[in-house]
Order: sequence, then structure tokens, then C-alpha cells
Amino acid sequence: MIMDTLLILSVIIGLTSATQIDSKNEKPPSKDSTATNQSAESKDEVDSKKWTLFSPLIPHAKEELHPLLVHFPIAFLVLEALLLLSYCFYPNEDLVKFSKWLLWIAVISFIPVIYSGIRDVGVELLHSKNPFTDGLRNRLSNFFNTTTMSIHVLYAVASFLISITRLIWISISKENNMKGIQRPLFVASTLLGLWILIAASQVGGSISHE
Ligand code: HEM
Repeated sequence: MIMDTLLILSVIIGLTSATQIDSKNEKPPSKDSTATNQSAESKDEVDSKKWTLFSPLIPHAKEELHPLLVHFPIAFLVLEALLLLSYCFYPNEDLVKFSKWLLWIAVISFIPVIYSGIRDVGVELLHSKNPFTDGLRNRLSNFFNTTTMSIHVLYAVASFLISITRLIWISISKENNMKGIQRPLFVASTLLGLWILIAASQVGGSISHE
């Protein structure tokens, strides 16, 4: 008898909670989501004029390289910082060696990023025959402005310089940069570099996406 009552009760509780879950899922779409869908559709129309299914497989305009290349220094520097932080908790010389190589690759990968960024600026200028030289001239003469582009370049150059300085530090200290008093200073400079890099990327993203 008790078992029967428990069985009936659990069926009732089960049915009630199932109804509650269903009613949550049956919410009609809000006005906002309709608007988002519409704008996503109109974006789709614009995009479909540019790309076909297979055209992305062939490299296209050089103007699209900067947004592609920026991911490399970002990924390498984030990974390098993670390895150095792991070293603080699990000291292992391989972590320091690998992080040094990551820093090298990050510094090298900055070069095409900076080149393509400057070139993109030149492409945007009207009647430019040599986008890189024109972009460079434009950026140098506006280096200390407070426009979004100048702020992006200022932070980007700063993060490049911090990375090079850390690389020189590793060489001068003969790879003792994570020993003794140097360790907290080197970790602090790594985190500062990462902070500046994120700032550069945030401003860069606002140029492309706003
Ligand atoms: C002097 C050097 C640089 C110049 C002149 C520059 C210029 C530009 C320009 C014009 C854009 C707009 C998108 C485009 O037209 O390509 C852009 C976007 C961007 N830049 Fe730079 N940039 C420089 C260096 C860097 C560096 C070193 C980084 C970081 C690694 C960086 C990260 C970004 C990011 C994340 C975007 C947004 C990409 C997207 O989401 O579409 N830039 N930059």
C-alpha cells in the first residue's frame, strides 16, 4: 500500500516538473531575437555576394591578412605566459626552455602582423600606389594622436617592444631570468606585455567590428 502511494506520488511529481520544463521552453521569441535574426539574414545576403563555398580555399586579397595574422602573436604570448606561470608552481627547466622558444616565435610573428597592419592603413588611403610606404608615413605622422587607429598602433608597438626587451633580457641573463630575484620581475613584465597586447587587440577589434 505504502509502495503504491509512493509510486503514484513520484509519477505526479514527475509529470508536474515535466510540465514546468515544457512551459519554459515554449516562450515565444522576443522582439529582440526577431531583430537579431533579421540583421543576421541581411548580413548573410551581403556575405553571399563575396564568398562562394570553395573560394575561401584560395588566398584572397592581402587586405584580409592582418585580421588573420594577429592571432599568432596573441596565441604564442598567451601560451608563453601560461608556461611561465606553471613553472612558478611546478619548477621544470623544460617549461622555461619551451617558453623561450614561444617568445622567439611570437616576436617573429609580430613582423608580418605589423607589416600587414601598416599596409591596410595605406590601402584605405585614396590613390595610394604603394600602400605600405603611404601607410607607414600616415602612421608615423599620426603616432601620438588620440584617434582609435593611433591608440591601436601605440599599444601594438608597445607590446612588440616589451616582447623584444624580454627576449634581450633572457639572452643577457644567460637564461637565468626565472631564477632568484629575476623571477618575479620577469613574470611581472610578461603579464604587463600581455595586458598591453590585449589592449591593442581590443582597440583593433573595434576598428574592424564597429
Ligand atoms: C603598426 C602596426 C599595426 C597597424 C598599422 C595596424 C592596423 C590595423 C588595422 C587597419 C586594422 C583594421 C582591420 C584591417 O583593416 O586590417 C587592425 C585590426 C586589428 N589589429 Fe592591428 N595593426 C597593427 C598591429 C597590430 C598588432 C601588433 C596586433 C596584435 C597582435 C594587432 C591586432 C589587431 C586586431 C586583433 C585587429 C582586429 C582584427 C579583427 O578582428 O578583424 N594589430 N589593425
